[in-house]
Amino acid sequence: MTESTPSFSGPLAGKTIALGVSGSIAAYKAADLTSELRKAGADVHVVMTESATKFISVLTLGTLSRNPVLTSFWDEEGWQPGHIELADKIDLFLVAPATAQQVGNYANGLAPDLLGAIYLATKAPVMLAPAMNGKMYEHEAVQKNLETLKGRGVEIIEPVVGELACGYEGIGKLALVSEITETVLSYIA
Ligand SMILES: Cc1cc2nc3c(=O)[nH]c(=O)nc-3n(C[C@H](O)[C@H](O)[C@H](O)COP(=O)(O)O)c2cc1C
Repeated sequence: MTESTPSFSGPLAGKTIALGVSGSIAAYKAADLTSELRKAGADVHVVMTESATKFISVLTLGTLSRNPVLTSFWDEEGWQPGHIELADKIDLFLVAPATAQQVGNYANGLAPDLLGAIYLATKAPVMLAPAMNGKMYEHEAVQKNLETLKGRGVEIIEPVVGELACGYEGIGKLALVSEITETVLSYIA
């Protein structure tokens, strides 16, 4: 049997992406997104919040990305914190799905978790794909945070209208994985 080795050919070859995954029901879609980005040639490093690990496993995203997954400040190895090393080397910081919590953290410069710390530490472009209940998404506080981030040059991949996991119909559904991938390609390929 021929073993396949990690392949980094494709339009994103040579690009390193930190893919942040936060605690939304849409976190399971990060599996497809990881796969699509890797197949496009990117070296994908997944960083998960503790909440995200309730929705999708480290094993799944680690296997699909073919890289170790970072989940906590406290189990990093080596003299340099892994999240700082990652923040320094990436070509893109993409968070999909991004919760209301994450949007608020970045807008306010808070680093209670690895994702907030990477947001503050990286000089790479930042792209967020928010996903949440429609009323949460439309709340003035969330919209203000998104405007703040847009004002800093953060690319927001808008959520779409659809049936939401909370039972409502409306805006707040994570953008299609294909749209997120296309946006990444148009940005850094
Ligand atoms: C079933 C379930 C689904 C959730 N989905 C979302 C969501 O889509 N978007 C969101 O902002 N929060 C959602 N939450 C709430 C977040 O998990 C919660 O705010 C958490 O603190 C986010 O933390 P994190 O950003 O560190 O992952 C959900 C919670 C539960 C229990």
